[in-house]
Amino acid sequence: MSNKQSRIIAIDGPSGSGKSSVSKRVGAALGFLHVDSGALYRIMTWQCLKLLGDTSNPEEIEAVSRKVQVDFAAKDGAVIYLVDGEEPGNVLRTPEINRHASAVATVKAVRDRVTAWLREMTRFGDLIVEGRDITTAVFPETPARFYLEASAEARAERRRKEEVEKGIANQSAEEVKASLLARDKIDSSRKYAPLKKADGVTVIDSTYLTLDQVVQTVMDALPAEWKR
Ligand code: DC
Repeated sequence: MSNKQSRIIAIDGPSGSGKSSVSKRVGAALGFLHVDSGALYRIMTWQCLKLLGDTSNPEEIEAVSRKVQVDFAAKDGAVIYLVDGEEPGNVLRTPEINRHASAVATVKAVRDRVTAWLREMTRFGDLIVEGRDITTAVFPETPARFYLEASAEARAERRRKEEVEKGIANQSAEEVKASLLARDKIDSSRKYAPLKKADGVTVIDSTYLTLDQVVQTVMDALPAEWKR
């Protein structure tokens, strides 16, 4: 717990741009807890599919979003999420959730609830938060804001490998790329808090960079007093 003002590193970017790997590494180096905001949208999507069977009706999604209960705890360098006392794990990473998450994330009530949760997490102390609207809507005032990007091919290949390694799915590179581009389109064109490069963010294209190089670029751009 922290009673001084939390320091926040905000990282946005499309799927597969490397946000998670980079956030975990930078967070571990500095002692900032890693926060995966996309997992909260995935929890909302999971609950909508469970209770509604689909995600076609924004009013029903809004009603579900008001009911979803999530508990938060700090564990192993991250803020973890508990639904009914358990971490949902890989059920949040299925192609079905991938397909429906962007639609659920367009609903304002969903975004408001997740944004409130994220802001409450500052009670845990310093955070490195990754998502799509962290630099623009959730923590726009923080001095440490980054936008990660990479070519669609590089992003699809990273996601495909991850799905195979975790035993979640075995889709072709083309299928993964199509699903990722479909989500990018919805995430960037939605009415509320779309994914975009905010003025003043540090943009990093990770297509041809190693993870170490991206981590170093982020570290170099942080306020000097945060690294002591
Ligand atoms: O990062 P991810 O793939 O786990 O995100 C899942 C979905 O949630 C994705 O379609 C975009 C959405 N999202 C969002 O709208 N805002 C965020 N801050 C994080 C994720």
